[in-house]
Amino acid sequence: MSTDPHTLRLLLAAALVLAYLGMCAAIWHGQRRKARAAQAQARALALAPQGARPLLLAWASQTGQAEALAKHTAELLHTAGEAVHLLPLGSVTVQTLAQATRALFIVSTYGEGDAPDMAAPFVNGPMTGTPALPQLEYAVLALGDASYAHFCGFGRTLDAWLAATGARPLFERIDADQASARASADALAHWQRQLGHVARIEHLPAWQEPAWQRWTLARRVHLNPGSAGQPVYHLELAPAGDNASAGPVPLPEWQAGDLVQIRPPADPDHPRDYSIASLPSDGRVHLLVRRQQRADGTPGMASGWLTSTLAEGEPVDLRLRAHTAFRLGDNATRPLILIGNGTGLAGLRSHLKARAAAGQGENWLIFGERQAAHDWLYRDDIARWQAAGLLARVDTAFSRDGPRKRYVQDVLAAEAGQLRQWLARGAAVYVCGSLQGMATGVDTALRHAVGHETVDALIAQGRYRRDVY
Ligand SMILES: Cc1cc2nc3c(=O)[nH]c(=O)nc-3n(C[C@H](O)[C@H](O)[C@H](O)COP(=O)(O)OP(=O)(O)OC[C@H]3O[C@@H](n4cnc5c(N)ncnc54)[C@H](O)[C@@H]3O)c2cc1C
Ligand SMILES: Cc1cc2nc3c(=O)[nH]c(=O)nc-3n(C[C@H](O)[C@H](O)[C@H](O)COP(=O)(O)O)c2cc1C
Repeated sequence: MSTDPHTLRLLLAAALVLAYLGMCAAIWHGQRRKARAAQAQARALALAPQGARPLLLAWASQTGQAEALAKHTAELLHTAGEAVHLLPLGSVTVQTLAQATRALFIVSTYGEGDAPDMAAPFVNGPMTGTPALPQLEYAVLALGDASYAHFCGFGRTLDAWLAATGARPLFERIDADQASARASADALAHWQRQLGHVARIEHLPAWQEPAWQRWTLARRVHLNPGSAGQPVYHLELAPAGDNASAGPVPLPEWQAGDLVQIRPPADPDHPRDYSIASLPSDGRVHLLVRRQQRADGTPGMASGWLTSTLAEGEPVDLRLRAHTAFRLGDNATRPLILIGNGTGLAGLRSHLKARAAAGQGENWLIFGERQAAHDWLYRDDIARWQAAGLLARVDTAFSRDGPRKRYVQDVLAAEAGQLRQWLARGAAVYVCGSLQGMATGVDTALRHAVGHETVDALIAQGRYRRDVY
């Protein structure tokens, strides 16, 4: 088929006009995109002063509260148009501080006025000197527990160190007593108001504490009858409404290493933490609780209630707490050295369960208690994992069985050669249980066996993690 020259000219002209219109549309779209980007930039600049650098937000946390608050604070500021550089304190260097003009610190306190473990590289690095930081404006939110002698000790130390560098406070340090729900809420509301001034925003949405969930005690077993120590119980909790007639209630998610917070009915303003000893695939939250005995002989408020007053089928107000510092994280493919005493076996059991489920058997458990005959908690689980090749090595230290007292730290000292071999193969160390005596003794034994530098490097690499109390 042929086209006459007139029609051909018309078609060519139409194609040219269309191409021209297409080009105009592309230019218009491009300009509109640029204009939008310029408007967004102008809005951001209006919120952040000209030439302002991102606001540094550094956090140091042991059991996750400071971490959660830092993430929440970052989200608030981000929504308000502030550019935020969120960093774990252990990753902050002198250079990071020297390049910042404004910095917020959210830090908790552990041990006796000490920094959380993950802050060790900062405490042993930048904080050993006094760099000049006159360009820096800062604020500190310190989390602690007012019943400790060194309330918010690390927050105070950090604040004093920053002042010594010549940095200037944006506002006065805020100390939050996290053991009291009311005091903590007041401190956090104060922090939010001050942040509002820093970011020049009238109303930042208030921090919402995670909600309490209603669970029930489904089963309780006394694990150490005849023990010379206080009684220890295995508890199983199920979401409320989870019964044969109503069918199962969906379980919330958690990971090995996580914690629960429990609100005792007689002291609802002071929740207590417990390490979870199970996985969601178990269908229940398992806890390992020792009934505490106070100096006057009375039972501890929460542990007394959980291990005796509370009856099976009765309600428990609980919330799950992500304990990222004690999760497997990047250590999933590494060999694990799991060290604990007493109820510390709870946090190790969830890890052993996760390792068994993953078919990862390169695990070395070092467990300490008083007497094998009474205090060998979860002995059947451990024997089963050993038999299945899912627990390469188990050492126990029963302090009252031999002529000489022997603790988990003594096992580490005696097995220093094995310890070095496991670490050379890339192993990670998980410690769970009492801080006084056990965890401090284990830390000393580790440092003695492999040196301070190696232990500090393990902390920096996330290969030495602790859930200790
Ligand atoms: C991370 C972590 C994990 C834990 N895991 C376990 C576990 O797996 N198993 C286990 O048995 N225990 C565990 N604990 C200990 C547990 O949280 C309780 O401390 C323990 O059960 C004793 O509590 P209690 O209420 O029985 O004792 P209580 O003597 O009644 O109270 C113990 C503590 O609660 C606080 N407290 C009590 N009353 C007040 C008040 N009026 N005002 C302010 N503070 C108050 C104080 O700090 C006090 O020292 C863990 C603790 C932590 C921090
Ligand atoms: C073993 C242990 C030791 C603690 N030592 C102190 C302390 O010396 N001073 C203090 O103010 N708070 C202390 N606390 C309380 C914590 O700082 C507080 O619970 C905080 O909210 C924890 O925040 P995190 O979850 O971010 O680590 C201690 C808590 C535990 C479990």
